[in-house]
Amino acid sequence: MVRFILLLLFLVFHVIVHGINFSTLSGRKPTSPFEEVLTNQAKAQPPFQKFRRSSKSLDGYTTKAKADYIDSLPGILSSEINFRQFSGYLTINDSTKHIFYWFVESQSEPESKPLIWWSNGGPGCSGLISLFEEFGPFRVQPDNVTLLKNPYSWNRVANFLFVESPVGTGFSYSDVPERDYLEWTDLQTAQDNYFAIQMKSNDSTQINLKGLMIGNPLNDPYSLEYVGNVQAFWAHSLIDKPTWDNVVRYCIDPYDRDPYNSETGTGFQPWNDPMCIKYDTQANYLVAPQLYNSSYTRGLDPYALDAPYCTSAQNQRETLWYLRNKVSALKNNSTVKFRACVNSFTVVYLGLSNVQKAIHVRSSKIPPHNNIDDKANNWIDCSTLIANEYSIISQNTYMTSHYTYLLDKKPDLKIIIFSGDDDGVCATVGTQYWLYGMNLTVISPFQAWYHTAKPDQVAGYITKFKGITFITIHGAGHEIALYSPGAAYTFFQNVINGKFTS
Ligand SMILES: *[C@@H]1O[C@H](CO)[C@@H](O)[C@H](O)[C@H]1NC(C)=O
Ligand SMILES: *[C@@H]1O[C@H](CO)[C@@H](O)[C@H](O)[C@H]1NC(C)=O
Ligand SMILES: *[C@@H]1O[C@H](CO)[C@@H](O)[C@H](O)[C@H]1NC(C)=O
Ligand SMILES: *[C@@H]1O[C@H](CO)[C@@H](O)[C@H](O)[C@H]1NC(C)=O
Ligand SMILES: *[C@@H]1O[C@H](CO)[C@@H](O)[C@H](O)[C@H]1NC(C)=O
Ligand SMILES: *[C@@H]1O[C@H](CO)[C@@H](O)[C@H](O)[C@H]1NC(C)=O
Ligand SMILES: *[C@@H]1O[C@H](CO)[C@@H](O)[C@H](O)[C@H]1NC(C)=O
Ligand SMILES: *[C@@H]1O[C@H](CO)[C@@H](O)[C@H](O)[C@H]1NC(C)=O
Repeated sequence: MVRFILLLLFLVFHVIVHGINFSTLSGRKPTSPFEEVLTNQAKAQPPFQKFRRSSKSLDGYTTKAKADYIDSLPGILSSEINFRQFSGYLTINDSTKHIFYWFVESQSEPESKPLIWWSNGGPGCSGLISLFEEFGPFRVQPDNVTLLKNPYSWNRVANFLFVESPVGTGFSYSDVPERDYLEWTDLQTAQDNYFAIQMKSNDSTQINLKGLMIGNPLNDPYSLEYVGNVQAFWAHSLIDKPTWDNVVRYCIDPYDRDPYNSETGTGFQPWNDPMCIKYDTQANYLVAPQLYNSSYTRGLDPYALDAPYCTSAQNQRETLWYLRNKVSALKNNSTVKFRACVNSFTVVYLGLSNVQKAIHVRSSKIPPHNNIDDKANNWIDCSTLIANEYSIISQNTYMTSHYTYLLDKKPDLKIIIFSGDDDGVCATVGTQYWLYGMNLTVISPFQAWYHTAKPDQVAGYITKFKGITFITIHGAGHEIALYSPGAAYTFFQNVINGKFTS
């Protein structure tokens, strides 16, 4: 039996919110999308409860599961894959919306392991980013076709259901594009996820939601944008003192004197202050001009301030290294290290027609906005259309009320906020401003934790608040397991075995 469900949301914030006019936020009282999810929860059903044999046999699996079974995957020998995996569509809204999912069972005793629902943020970023680039079982190699098993895959200790949501992301598609490809909101995304969760079975067993985990979150635009983000740049010496002084003078000081209150819409609004916008933009431009002018490439990744940046030259270097060392590389676990250009290899791999066939993708249905370079049947990690058309209000809502709602209604829920401390966009410093603003009681104070393989090195810090545990991963960028696979694995083991929760 699947013992419990952990709901994981991972916010990949691929589009910096600079230049957005936030005035639409004024006076708006945030509503909780969780409200609906929780009150209906008693009726929810477990998605994959039939998947419970420990060999690769499919005895006892449903017909739908058998049809979705991945029996071989291009680029890797089936004999190397020691777990069952399934992929296909969860069909919702009277069969008009199709959410692509990829379910990987745990590598051992899947029937006794927790089930984790994993979707990425963006908005419009695919859950398959995590499967192939973060903590999933495979990494695409620089030849674009070979898969290497990730020895640090989190499916060693849990079952994972990766989804591409909302509809319009990755391979997920709608039969009614004129209804579903125009505008996206948090409510719509929450509904897509909620109805997809209910799809897999008509058994009436209750979902036993145990917790949620959110990595490098965007919880409020102020602490992310005007404090966390620029302060991370300043502390990494990526901007000059005059720029920082001006951000303090025009954005931070006025806010400290008169903070914006999202319930009443009163207080200082840095997003409407021209001088604040000017210096904030200047700071961001210094670090990442490529985000303002796509033909301007600069070798610095704002999502991982100390990591190499993927350019075409870097891509060539990685590919050449790989092709020269191919034989030893395939045997060498250390090749599952950080690769700056892993995303471009994944995009090519998931665009291959034999791969799409093996994972039951309906190639002709891939949303046209996810085709790149006018090539049909492609796959893209993050949809630019969704990022552009996603409700500004949803993107910039203050999230605190959602957390206080959950803490109030489900006090036994394990909530984990984790943060790679090298991320300059959804920076740890901003997350701390937001978290301490919630005034939660500290149960166990800030202290170092250690990665089992390197017990003499600090892997990050952990603080347990009443209801929320906050964990940093030192030196990791926005997607922790991409940059620090070993430490991220230890982190996740400690989450699952209860060491990191209170
Ligand atoms: C999908 O179905 C749900 C439940 O019936 C409904 O609330 C929602 O509005 C529908 N969405 C669309 C786009 O039709
Ligand atoms: C992998 O794909 C990239 C992007 O299309 C391409 O530039 C590169 O040449 C490919 N690598 C190989 C070894 O074919
Ligand atoms: C790779 O890692 C796995 C899991 O940690 C281990 O079992 C295996 O022996 C390693 N292989 C090599 C060649 O080091
Ligand atoms: C749902 O329940 C009906 C009647 O009990 C059964 O015939 C059907 O196979 C079930 N469907 C699934 C997907 O389990
Ligand atoms: C933002 O929009 C509001 C309302 O449309 C407008 O009054 C204000 O001038 C705008 N602010 C900026 C900085 O563009
Ligand atoms: C963008 O950057 C390129 C390369 O530096 C430059 O030639 C071009 O003029 C820039 N475009 C704009 C609109 O600033
Ligand atoms: C594994 O790869 C690393 C480079 O990533 C190399 O330095 C090391 O020698 C390789 N080890 C083996 C056993 O091939
Ligand atoms: C935390 O305390 C401060 C100062 O008393 C207050 O302004 C703020 O609203 C509180 N935050 C929450 C989420 O209750």
